[in-house]
Amino acid sequence: MEILATPTEARAWRHAVRGDVGFVPTMGYLHQGHLALVRRALSENAATAVSIFVNPAQFGPGEDFERYPRDEERDLRLLRECGVDAVYLPTPAVIYPPGYQTYVTVEQVTRMLEGAARPGHFRGVATVVLKLLNTIEPQRAYFGRKDAQQLRVIRRMARDLDLACEIVPCDIVREPDGLAMSSRNVYLTPPEREAAPVIHRALRAAMDQFSAGERDASTLKRAVETIIAGQHLGETEYISLADDDTLEELDGLVQREAVLSIVVRFGATRLLDNIELTPEPARFGQVAD
Ligand code: PAJ
Repeated sequence: MEILATPTEARAWRHAVRGDVGFVPTMGYLHQGHLALVRRALSENAATAVSIFVNPAQFGPGEDFERYPRDEERDLRLLRECGVDAVYLPTPAVIYPPGYQTYVTVEQVTRMLEGAARPGHFRGVATVVLKLLNTIEPQRAYFGRKDAQQLRVIRRMARDLDLACEIVPCDIVREPDGLAMSSRNVYLTPPEREAAPVIHRALRAAMDQFSAGERDASTLKRAVETIIAGQHLGETEYISLADDDTLEELDGLVQREAVLSIVVRFGATRLLDNIELTPEPARFGQVAD
């Protein structure tokens, strides 16, 4: 497995590969969610590169950049065991050298939800992802549905900037009790960790109502809210039921693909989760002949 430290080294590796390159950008402290993306990339490409870079530009002042969990040795071991071909490990000074001043702004789809809660976050994400894609020049880049808005921001950027790379969404990987895997789950105290699966239970309850035919957006959101309110450790920051593509909030009835997303705060830890709702095509009664 090659370790690449600079854009020059990464490009040299890329240009030596014969065939398609798959790419998985991460901030490290890898878990099975990341590794599912990696395995998918390995299965669909001739060579796979993973980046590990805790991107300072996507953390706000007072957020967890300094204490974000890191374990490079373990990450490299896991990636080597998976059979990854190359790992790009740039430092902040490599990505943002002195004098750096160019940033990517994706407009509407960054305004709500995480974009509203974390000003500047998606500007940092879009900028680093574009830089990484520009360096690795993969045929395919893999992103988790766990970060629903991030996926839509990247997809929008790729369309708007005519990127050649295909953006491949991958399903959320969960712990056996339903909690979505996240590097930040290590911040939870044992009682918080025990309570956290309530998030998935709440989303599932809304999904069940939706499957049974409920289409009213506020009823579905209330179903989630009620279940979260039934415990005391986690506090709902927002619940959103939004258009699957634009993330514009839906009011009234859910008649097209939608994403139900939630942030629950356990102490200082914000846990994100979501579930996609797909209305079945309208069924028509049998036509009598
Ligand atoms: P990070 O949080 O490390 O996540 C890297 C990728 O793994 C993202 O695409 C994320 O959606 C995916 N992922 C995380 N948890 C997952 C889970 N439980 N199931 C499936 N996929 C999961 O997201 C980032 O890093 C950064 O913002 C990045 C894109 C690397 C830019 O800095």
